[in-house]
Amino acid sequence: MTEVQRPPAEQLFAAELAALKASDKGEKPEGWVLSPKAVVTYILGGKAADGSIISAKYVGSRRLIETAVATLATDRALLLLGVPGTAKSWVSEHLAAGIAGDSTMVVQCTSGTDENQIRYGWNYAQLLAKGPSTEALVPTPLYRAMEAGKLCRLEELTRMGSDVQDTLITVLSEKMLPVPELNSAVYARRGFNVIATANNRDKGVNELSSALKRRFNVVVLPLPADIEEEVAIVTKRVAEMGGGLRLPVPPSAVAEVERIVTIFRELRAGQTLDGKTALKVPTGSLSTAEAIAVMIGGLSQAAWFMEGAVDAEALAPTLMGAIVKDPVQDKLVLEEYLEGVLKKRRDFAGYYTALTDLL
Ligand SMILES: Nc1ncnc2c1ncn2[C@@H]1O[C@H](COP(=O)(O)OP(=O)(O)O)[C@@H](O)[C@H]1O
Ligand SMILES: [Mg+2]
Repeated sequence: MTEVQRPPAEQLFAAELAALKASDKGEKPEGWVLSPKAVVTYILGGKAADGSIISAKYVGSRRLIETAVATLATDRALLLLGVPGTAKSWVSEHLAAGIAGDSTMVVQCTSGTDENQIRYGWNYAQLLAKGPSTEALVPTPLYRAMEAGKLCRLEELTRMGSDVQDTLITVLSEKMLPVPELNSAVYARRGFNVIATANNRDKGVNELSSALKRRFNVVVLPLPADIEEEVAIVTKRVAEMGGGLRLPVPPSAVAEVERIVTIFRELRAGQTLDGKTALKVPTGSLSTAEAIAVMIGGLSQAAWFMEGAVDAEALAPTLMGAIVKDPVQDKLVLEEYLEGVLKKRRDFAGYYTALTDLL
């Protein structure tokens, strides 16, 4: 059997979770694997009570993570909101791993998601053979989470139609899911809750109904506050992901991370870091997650085709792809940035040349 490409968090960090669990003396909400404090340590990193080192998964405000964890210990569900690439899905996965020891009950919501993917569906062969029966019922991740007293993750909640979203109201307010065909219902075990994520930019696509909104506590995940924090996040994740992909991460990569993040932050904010020059903003989101992807793309290019040198030349093609999402508009934005800003910066000369060549 080949190795799994991307194991879920609870497998990848099984040792950390076990160390936290073994030494966790804190009181736990019913159905939780760890105490709330231990969950926060699992996510932000630190030391378990027995002194073993816990790596940081999320870099950011402790307050936010505490609020998220505290919410999940109540009867309200959690909605993680933010622009793309602010680690909403990532935090949601780790919250589920830390709290329930299982992050695999996920529904990816789209405009095509219907009630059967939220509540339950039917195995039609069984349904025809036996009629409506427990054997013919196909449970959804939400259904299984309720039965098991675990967390269900709903990715991009606002992408699905409002009528489908509203099927969650009974589940969230009464913690039960009626199954009229079997004249029965599933009652959620203790420990069950829902973590949803939604994108700020999608706002208005399918706004949450006010009835549903009332059942969620909203935690907004921000973009990294300053360049140091963003460089730290990208460097850390690139090292971890590079390791996972067996890509060597040369020490020179750190300097490139700083330059890539500088370019991202300036274009995202529409002005240079010193605030002196106004810039046009590209149509794409230029998130932290994309900066990570640019670095990983460059590492791969360098490792396979360029004898390992991670420089502007290796990074330019993926960087270009991240900035130029709209071939007409964004090209102009980049051209202006190259001529007006990067051309004058000596330490960005490689980027000026490589990107100009590609334009
Ligand atoms: N503050 C942060 N701390 C740690 N990792 C981060 C942070 N911000 C972004 N990332 C990284 O960005 C990547 C993508 O995040 P993701 O959860 O898919 O974003 P979202 O769901 O908000 O669009 C993940 O690999 C994550 O590690
Ligand atoms: Mg996401």
